Amino acid sequence: MSEPNWANRTVWTADNLDVMRGMNSESVDLIYLDPPFNSNRTYEAPIGSKAAGAAFKDSWTLSDVDDAWHGEIAERHPALYRVIDAAELSHGTGMKSYLIMMGVRMLEIRRLLKSTGSLYVHCDPTAGHYLKLLLDAVFGAESFRSHIAWKRTSAHSDARQGRRQHGRVQDFIFFVTKGGGWTWNVLYSAYDRDYVDQLYRHVEPETGRRYQLDNLTGPGGTGRGNPAYEVMGVTRSWRYSKERMEELIAQGRVVQSRPGAVPRYKRYLDEMPGVPLQDVWTDVKPIGSRARERVGYPTQKPLALLERIIKASSNEGDVVLDPFCGCATTLVAAHRLGRQWAGIDLSEVAIRLVHERLGRESEALGPVQVHARTDMPQRTDLGELPDYGTHKHQLYGKQEGKCAGCRALFPFRNMTVDHVVARSRGGSDHMDNLQLLCGACNSTKGAGTQEALIARLKILGVL
Ligand SMILES: C[S@@+](CC[C@H](N)C(=O)[O-])C[C@H]1O[C@@H](n2cnc3c(N)ncnc32)[C@H](O)[C@@H]1O
Repeated sequence: MSEPNWANRTVWTADNLDVMRGMNSESVDLIYLDPPFNSNRTYEAPIGSKAAGAAFKDSWTLSDVDDAWHGEIAERHPALYRVIDAAELSHGTGMKSYLIMMGVRMLEIRRLLKSTGSLYVHCDPTAGHYLKLLLDAVFGAESFRSHIAWKRTSAHSDARQGRRQHGRVQDFIFFVTKGGGWTWNVLYSAYDRDYVDQLYRHVEPETGRRYQLDNLTGPGGTGRGNPAYEVMGVTRSWRYSKERMEELIAQGRVVQSRPGAVPRYKRYLDEMPGVPLQDVWTDVKPIGSRARERVGYPTQKPLALLERIIKASSNEGDVVLDPFCGCATTLVAAHRLGRQWAGIDLSEVAIRLVHERLGRESEALGPVQVHARTDMPQRTDLGELPDYGTHKHQLYGKQEGKCAGCRALFPFRNMTVDHVVARSRGGSDHMDNLQLLCGACNSTKGAGTQEALIARLKILGVL
């Protein structure tokens, strides 16, 4: 574990990959991300809203991803590159490009999390199933904790007649932990109406409090060590000691419906915490058109959603990071809950909204000093930075991991940088004259020409 190398309450207007690469390893307790979903849309805030001018494109092609990211993923995590490659076969190049963008960031996210840390990835059915594979590859399948289905709207037009499909009303939120011993606080949601009506059938006339009559007998009888004695004329084995039972009687908690009936315990509904939170969330409502928290930012998430996540998976004083922070929903929620926080977003509108929203918070919580940055942090937890974006990484991306001779896909480590026109024939070291070959093609080519290599591979039946 290390300390963050940035000040609490920092917001970067920058690409999150560059910022995260400059952050210390194992310095963050909780990361929530709500990235582009690969929705094939461009999101724009309505003109006139506080967020006017905010826009981001959410469609992906190979030209949107840096060639070097392929090589970096293939070098650092060969299994992840294979998962991404498989997504191209089953879905297409757009999904592959999106997953390369996400994959290279996910490697940094894992590095930044403490061993007790947690990650929540917000997405939807467009790419959600592929992101699950990506998370399994990066964190290990055993790190998967929950797939939360958040009902983000009550109905959707894709259920209309003619569309011939069910309405898509849920977002996915994947909850993943980095190691054992993750931070966990049990949260409760309200009981549903039917449960209350069935179980808490009695109402106290004087107070209006609902209650149920619960069993007081000792499970397993005296054989299990439960004490036996007489209560209100009934002798049984009870779950409480005689002294405790007398206290409960004195508090009016022990009720006998008629003489001779087995006394029961009066359990009030308003003293129960509720149901431990399950993985289908229908009680966090979308932000209403007139809600005070609405700023008009496209894809703005409700504060209640983030408060729930932050409460469950962090403690006061912990460090929370949102690398796609948009209009600062996570940051506001973290601030209200007394966590340290940082956010990153490409959009300049986002930083304006961060200031505005946190400014509003200061009315209730006192002045909030936000550190706005565009420069990259410098890691203080290492002697030397890893090599990003070398020629070999870039060539691997340009060739999409395939050998420039036999065209087969090879792991990064099995590729060799080759001069297309050999140095001995006057070839330069410029990128245009470099390519990656697998070991076999490299020795077949030797100091010969590319044309001779291709001709040889054809004769051998490889091409
Ligand atoms: C779905 S929105 C997040 C909305 C946010 N959860 C909220 O409640 O306002 C995604 C955000 O990611 C930002 N973004 C996209 N690519 C990014 C990148 N490479 N680095 C930083 N931010 C990025 C976009 O500008 C957009 O604000």
